[in-house]
Amino acid sequence: MKYEEWLGNKDLEYKDDVLYFDNMNTIDIANEYGTPIYVTNEQRLRVQYRKIKNMLDMEYKNNSVHFAVKSNSNLSIIKILNSEGAEFDCSSTGEVYACFKAGVKPSQIIYTGNMFTDKDFEFAVENDVLVNLDSISQLKRLSKAYKDLEKEKGVLSFRINPEFGAGHHSHTITAGKQLKFGILDTQVIEAYSKAKDLGFDRFGIHQHIGSGILNPWDFEKAAEKYLSIVKELTNKLNIKLEFVDFGGGLGIPYRPDEDPLDLSIYRDVIIKKFKELVQNEDIGEPKLIIEPGRYITAESTIILTQINTIKNNTYKMFAGVNAGFNTLIRPTMYGSYHHIISCKINTNDKKLTYDITGPICESGDVLGKERTLPELREGDILAVLDAGAYGFTMSSVYNSRPRPAEILINNGKSYVMRKAEQYDHLMDLQLIPDHLK
Ligand code: LLP
Repeated sequence: MKYEEWLGNKDLEYKDDVLYFDNMNTIDIANEYGTPIYVTNEQRLRVQYRKIKNMLDMEYKNNSVHFAVKSNSNLSIIKILNSEGAEFDCSSTGEVYACFKAGVKPSQIIYTGNMFTDKDFEFAVENDVLVNLDSISQLKRLSKAYKDLEKEKGVLSFRINPEFGAGHHSHTITAGKQLKFGILDTQVIEAYSKAKDLGFDRFGIHQHIGSGILNPWDFEKAAEKYLSIVKELTNKLNIKLEFVDFGGGLGIPYRPDEDPLDLSIYRDVIIKKFKELVQNEDIGEPKLIIEPGRYITAESTIILTQINTIKNNTYKMFAGVNAGFNTLIRPTMYGSYHHIISCKINTNDKKLTYDITGPICESGDVLGKERTLPELREGDILAVLDAGAYGFTMSSVYNSRPRPAEILINNGKSYVMRKAEQYDHLMDLQLIPDHLK
């Protein structure tokens, strides 16, 4: 794929050497709102959601796309996806709370926690949110929450660990015997039998094998194993599952030499196989659920950041910018690649190679290693691409640097969807003990 086409797929193009994002001049945005800043393109979110939803609709009508809120929990993003008809995957009580604030109904949420506390259960049960357990030991506590709150038991689901995981980094692979997630195939019958004994009588099932999977064949083995578990469970315990959830994991092309995920292969290894099972076995017609986060949000957002220092230490060139791993931790945490480009280029400029580094006092604070770009100057604005998934949600205030604002762009207009934090926000919750006053 040509570079211009790759950029174009992310609604980025140069006009008169200036970078436009969804037809908006990035330099103007940086000048209006300051830097660093997260800029999110509303239409790209809608397009990505619809791509997945249409793919499912064409194959199996009884489906839903649960947006993984952990990838981006801004209320406006949740509202945009809610308006598209999305449902939601939450990983904490805080994410469920954010969904409620954005107008999402409890029936649209699956709460897949990890190491649930009794408080989490109470909150979920009180608010009629479906809980997806990841340990047999949690059953009794969840059951108790229903009893204590005098609520009728809702649909219950277990997260299955099918042992075949995949992901862009070992930290994002979530299936395998050594990993903390879900229950293994050998525990499934016991888990659902115990649930029946405790009086649960409506069920679903869930898996999520990892994140950042760009090769769709990587889903195949896990899907096969998962579907064999679904079959065994429904046959042995005579359970009709209300849903079968395949989790998220769909990757995006962060590098210019990467193509987008081939959704037709994804459809063949997951949706078609699932459909075959439904057609050939007496398992009813469970709802098919997937939980993409990154696929919907990553390409919707860029970070604009300004170069404050160009340093040549005679060995190497550094372009020091005002966004660091406090702003975007993925390069530091996972060695992730985020493409970085200038918002204004002079085509006659010679190309030079730089490490693009942030202002944090750690050597790991590098957003991009050895990037070759038309000569950079102090004051220039750069765009860090594909920052919409696990960008702002994983940002921090390390080095007492307040988090930047988030801007939404749509049809040529821009809106603040989160104000920039101020220094006082960093101190707001601190209390000085009397003897130090
Ligand atoms: N469902 C469950 C239960 C999950 O745990 C996750 C992600 C998803 C869905 C969505 O996965 P996605 O479609 O976005 O790949 N911080 C890492 C990614 C961690 C993903 C954790 N779970 C990163 O920046 O790459």
